[in-house]
Amino acid sequence: MQHTEILTLIQSEPSLHQVIVKGWVRSFRSNRFIALNDGSTIKNIQCVVDFEKFEEETLKKITVGAAIEVKGLLVESQGQGQAVEIQVEAVEILGEANPEDVKLTILSPKRHSLEKLREQAHLRVRTNTFSAVMRTRSKLAFAIHEYFQKNGFNYMHAPIITGSDAEGAGEMFRVSALDPKNPPLDENGNINYKEDFFGKETNLTVSGQLEAETYAMGLGKVYTFGPTFRAENSNTSRHLAEFWMIEPEVAFNDLDANMDLAEDFIKYIVNYALENCADDLEFLEDRLLQDEKSKPQAERSDMALREKLKFIVDNNFKRVTYTEAIEILKRSKPNQKKKFKYIIDEWGADLQSEHERFLVEKHFKCPVILFDYPAKIKAFYMRLNDDGNTVRAMDVLFPGIGEIVGGSQREERYDVLKQKMETMGIDEKELWWYLELRKFGTAVHSGFGLGFERMVQFVTGMGNIRDVIPYPRTPGNAEF
Ligand code: 4AD
Ligand code: MG
Repeated sequence: MQHTEILTLIQSEPSLHQVIVKGWVRSFRSNRFIALNDGSTIKNIQCVVDFEKFEEETLKKITVGAAIEVKGLLVESQGQGQAVEIQVEAVEILGEANPEDVKLTILSPKRHSLEKLREQAHLRVRTNTFSAVMRTRSKLAFAIHEYFQKNGFNYMHAPIITGSDAEGAGEMFRVSALDPKNPPLDENGNINYKEDFFGKETNLTVSGQLEAETYAMGLGKVYTFGPTFRAENSNTSRHLAEFWMIEPEVAFNDLDANMDLAEDFIKYIVNYALENCADDLEFLEDRLLQDEKSKPQAERSDMALREKLKFIVDNNFKRVTYTEAIEILKRSKPNQKKKFKYIIDEWGADLQSEHERFLVEKHFKCPVILFDYPAKIKAFYMRLNDDGNTVRAMDVLFPGIGEIVGGSQREERYDVLKQKMETMGIDEKELWWYLELRKFGTAVHSGFGLGFERMVQFVTGMGNIRDVIPYPRTPGNAEF
């Protein structure tokens, strides 16, 4: 029986229950109290052993990390800290864990640093912190599908291997089936990709947007939810080389409707987590509060984790143009605090994450949607405004995270898009199909991409993006 079922059983039927549970031993105190966890909940099941009834050999094998099966009577607990406990009648050792070996791992019962846990990524899901994060991640993924399915969107599977660069930023991982030691060469001595598996150069997708656009122009409302890959050399707490992205795309939606969708969607999934991950969020909140205590007063967060999430759900996101934001940043005095030291004084510059966080955390004190960015710093596919200088781009900025969503209204005019691709050096031969879409019943349409891990980071309060994905891929790191 899963532990989550056990924990609710006694409320529904107060009679005594004979139960069988399996799980991993978290602790075994005084040869009497086993804390057992099967991963279904943050709450351990307490199993009470009358040690006189059991053989010494069996008791010796009930060690931290071992997998066991317990048969016994489920009763209301006399002790504090848990509602129910199991009076153990029989124990079977399913998989032993040698205490000497366990001592060398993160399974040993003490608080290990997150860096240490990363080195043992195959074991870290057995810790409270990681199991809480990963259950929340799973719930959020479900909420995302639920939101779109309830709202008439079709789930579209964008290809992983593509022949194009959707963002035009050149941050792609190449995919090749050629023998690296002996690749075919062309007459100039360069690798001849015409002889490669697909007869051309291919790469892992950086975004499913362009393909999603083609589907939105047939199905109306679509969303992708899949892995995306970026070979950008950013060693930060918010970048991964492999991350999951959710990309809705909607025919006939302009930028305002796109902003409405992003805000409604984000509020829905954050609220879903509040309602469905209460135990895990409570645990993560306590963990964060302990961390906060070690910080100087001025750097402590003034809101607890769930309060922060509730704030997102209950308040409107502030919508501000890039130009207004630059004015605010120009007016803001250089702050003594290092974080916001760098001031921007030039229209057209790209915002650094410290600017974004200044706007959200210090100025507006709420999530911000920045829109109408300079065309020069945004991708080729965004719709040009009448001023000829700005595009219908939008970024959603979050406290503690910075950019969590990037999106836009797309350029639907054939001639304007063609011109833009030319000036931005995008090869028309590679994206002929994307251009052609504008020839047959073109229409206003828009969409955005939510970085799934950044959202999981926000909801769980984890400081580093490497700690919200099972096996993080970052520069120099693909150990597991
Ligand atoms: O702003 P980005 O690059 O936008 C796109 O890819 C568009 N094609 C999306 C669209 O309009 N359909 O990426 C979107 C989001 C970012 O806001 C960020 O949350 C996340 O994806 N993201 C990353 N997350 C983790 N690691 C990285 N290296 C990321 N790069 C982007
Ligand atoms: Mg972006």
